[in-house]
Amino acid sequence: MMRNIVAGNWKSNKSINEARNWMGEMGEAMDNLPKNVRIMVAVPAPYLAALANEKHPRIHIASQQVSANGHGAFTGEFTADMLVSCGVDYALVGHSERRSDFGETEALVSAKLKQCIESGLGVVLCCGEHLNERDSERQEEVIESQLESALHGMTADDMKNVIVAYEPIWAIGTGRTATADQAAEMHTFIRRWISEKFDRYTAENTSVLYGGSCKPSNAKELFASKDVDGGLIGGASLNSDDFQSLICSFT
Ligand code: PGA
Repeated sequence: MMRNIVAGNWKSNKSINEARNWMGEMGEAMDNLPKNVRIMVAVPAPYLAALANEKHPRIHIASQQVSANGHGAFTGEFTADMLVSCGVDYALVGHSERRSDFGETEALVSAKLKQCIESGLGVVLCCGEHLNERDSERQEEVIESQLESALHGMTADDMKNVIVAYEPIWAIGTGRTATADQAAEMHTFIRRWISEKFDRYTAENTSVLYGGSCKPSNAKELFASKDVDGGLIGGASLNSDDFQSLICSFT
């Protein structure tokens, strides 16, 4: 089981042509990239099917969004089943921008995760504390409650399709990265929580990624911690050279 993952999150960026150029550059560089890393990128929804069809086989395509419902009268929504049928491998669930800017509640996050698991779509479950929560040393309590709520009713078997991304909100898009020690501490806490909630085998086989201003200059240090299995990367995933350097941080 390969725990190392470098996952990009383009958010609402790139035209389809720019997206195709990025994919082309990645394809050309692939032979020189380390083999012990799973490569993933979460692209804007309109490009999912096309890119899933054209991508290099080593690149996993993720959706940044997924419906909390199945098929039916839900205008504008797309289901986990639809994503699977388009060759999409994962969906981001619980990203802090969705939680704070689009009002996604814990109940919605959990419903989305459930839809993905039932459809066999992989999940990147994002969690993270606000700055005031970190300042008052409540980060573990916050993460525990987010995980507990999102993963309620899931089994160890379901966890085979779940990747956890720890993304302190104060570090996302701010240029302010958690220190390697802060990340290591939280990742160890998350892995221990998974072990207690499910079992040790599940904890040892679940990838826990760090997110928040992760870039080529700090990735090596962050990824060096035994419980940090890679990153979910926003800004630094837009340029394919930077993204390749992030992947090479594992060598
Ligand atoms: P950032 O975003 O790397 O631009 O901080 C990370 C994320 O939102 O996943």
